[in-house]
Amino acid sequence: MCRRMSDKFSFSVSATDGRARSGVIHTPRGEIRTPAFMPVGTAATVKAMLPESVRATGADILLGNTYHLMLRPGAERIARLGGLHEFMNWPRPILTDSGGFQVMSLSSLRKLTEEGVTFSSHIDGSKHHLSPETSMEIQRLLGSDIVMAFDECPALPASEEEVAKSMRMSMRWAQRSRDAFGDRPGHALFGIMQGGVTRELREESAEALKAIGFEGYAIGGLAVGEGQEAMFGVLDYAPGFLPEDKPRYLMGVGKPDDIVGAVLRGVDMMDCVLPSRSGRTGQAWTRRGQVNIKNARHADDPRPLDADCTCPACTGYSRAYLHHVFRAGEMISGMLLTWHNLHYFQELMAGLRDAIGRGALAGFVAEFEAMRAQGDI
Ligand code: GUN
Ligand code: ZN
Repeated sequence: MCRRMSDKFSFSVSATDGRARSGVIHTPRGEIRTPAFMPVGTAATVKAMLPESVRATGADILLGNTYHLMLRPGAERIARLGGLHEFMNWPRPILTDSGGFQVMSLSSLRKLTEEGVTFSSHIDGSKHHLSPETSMEIQRLLGSDIVMAFDECPALPASEEEVAKSMRMSMRWAQRSRDAFGDRPGHALFGIMQGGVTRELREESAEALKAIGFEGYAIGGLAVGEGQEAMFGVLDYAPGFLPEDKPRYLMGVGKPDDIVGAVLRGVDMMDCVLPSRSGRTGQAWTRRGQVNIKNARHADDPRPLDADCTCPACTGYSRAYLHHVFRAGEMISGMLLTWHNLHYFQELMAGLRDAIGRGALAGFVAEFEAMRAQGDI
């Protein structure tokens, strides 16, 4: 039977500029313009934001977490309630991370074997198990559009031998993830490259993933404390090991200058808690860099956070007000700063996509750097 085009998952690159690409990922739940930034909605919410407000900032896709949702409220419950999109009132695409990475950073009493990982919940200490097979099942119950393979990311510092051993297990888990995922039209499974900062291991990992075959390829195991120089060092070669006709997703990145550097090196998708999390701690990100709204210098300042920003925080409120509501612990503080930050990140992505489309990325990046160098005024 012939499937309608709209039922399929596909990726098309529409323009390139150097190694940077712009394009569109088509899914039955809508298009994802790339390079894309995915706000993080760990617990079925982008904290302090309504889904329609997240959409208004320009987001095409959100990230959700297997680990958090399996513990609370539980994947079966979400499935009974119509799936994650319906549950959280976000009808557009959702990518879910597979859980292993969060187990390693959040849970306790972990026991890792070839089969999978057993751990205690960070919420109530209850015992749970995750494996490639259970992670695929949970992500299916959630109704995720882009499912991530189950992987392991070794804690740093780790020797090259440990990184190699862990990467090879993740590649066996990638094959088990592929087998367990099955045939699910309109849904995609992404493999995750590991291998630390060692070129040969990154290449071996990419070859293993390509031999299995995925709808997209993530670069994992970066932004875990190695620093920007080392990360860019890996990104100078790693995207080149992956298929050109499939999306490349850099996991857990990053600050605006990390995003620009990653896009320059051929990355199509990214996610990070930074704009939402730092919005709740009084940190704003603007074209002129970081602004700490807690700082007393804002207490009498009638100007907006960024005079050129069109977000609700900048069009309706002064720095003095944003400073006051943060100091007073008012909820609107996190709401306004999160909105501003997400708006800025999405505007940066739109600027990158537009510049790539015009073949004008070098000029865009020069302007981005010049504005940051001026600093907040
Ligand atoms: N988020 C950030 N880095 C990683 C990674 O290496 N693996 C997974 N699954 N998630 C991540
Ligand atoms: Zn703003």
